Amino acid sequence: MANPPSQPPRHSKILRYIAIVLLVLIVLVGLAVLITWLIIKPKRFVYTIEEGSIKNYNLTKNHLNSTFEFALRSYNPNSKISIYYDSIEASVEYDDQTIAFEVVDPFFQPHRNVTRLDLKLTSQYVPLSGSNSKDIALERSSGEIEIAVMLKARIRYKVGMWKSKDRILIIWCSPVRVRFSRPNNFERTYCDTEL
Ligand SMILES: *[C@@H]1O[C@H](CO)[C@@H](O)[C@H](O)[C@H]1NC(C)=O
Ligand SMILES: *[C@@H]1O[C@H](CO)[C@@H](O)[C@H](O)[C@H]1NC(C)=O
Ligand SMILES: *[C@@H]1O[C@H](CO)[C@@H](O)[C@H](O)[C@H]1NC(C)=O
Repeated sequence: MANPPSQPPRHSKILRYIAIVLLVLIVLVGLAVLITWLIIKPKRFVYTIEEGSIKNYNLTKNHLNSTFEFALRSYNPNSKISIYYDSIEASVEYDDQTIAFEVVDPFFQPHRNVTRLDLKLTSQYVPLSGSNSKDIALERSSGEIEIAVMLKARIRYKVGMWKSKDRILIIWCSPVRVRFSRPNNFERTYCDTEL
């Protein structure tokens, strides 16, 4: 007949108790995170450029004067997350150069909302590198220019009463093809985001 198993020493019982409590805590925290996630269901914000045109274009002696106009559609598909855009800088990039710039007014975007931003970026006597000047003049004569539109925004999220710390959001739309005439033929551009 086998001996009955001896009683485990008392401290191993306490250890087992602590382990169980820790395990339960971890499961509870995990459940809380999962439930919060399921309730908030974060979705990506969607940015697209819907329209674009160029006005007052004048490139003389490697200096550019121009006005770039874009309609940027900002879509917040979330049902619980709103977003503060505390500051926004928009720019037009050509090759490695910023050729036009605008400071956009701050705004608040509620959940499940579409906001249309009318961007108007100006180049006032912007000195271009020799090769960019040549390339832009070439594209001008072809009737269409290919640029990138970048927005750099300082944002905060809001979920219920809670507000996040501010962070930098980069919205990068490329390639954006703008015609010098017939801007109605504009092709929608989807933008990438980076936090
Ligand atoms: C561009 O600007 C230059 C210098 O300001 C001017 O002489 C020229 O006529 C302008 N060209 C056009 C097409 O407006
Ligand atoms: C650009 O505009 C500035 C003033 O806004 C003017 O002095 C300059 O001649 C213009 N340059 C061109 C190339 O049009
Ligand atoms: C989006 O939010 C802005 C600012 O609150 C509001 O003016 C606009 O009407 C909203 N748009 C839609 C489609 O709900």
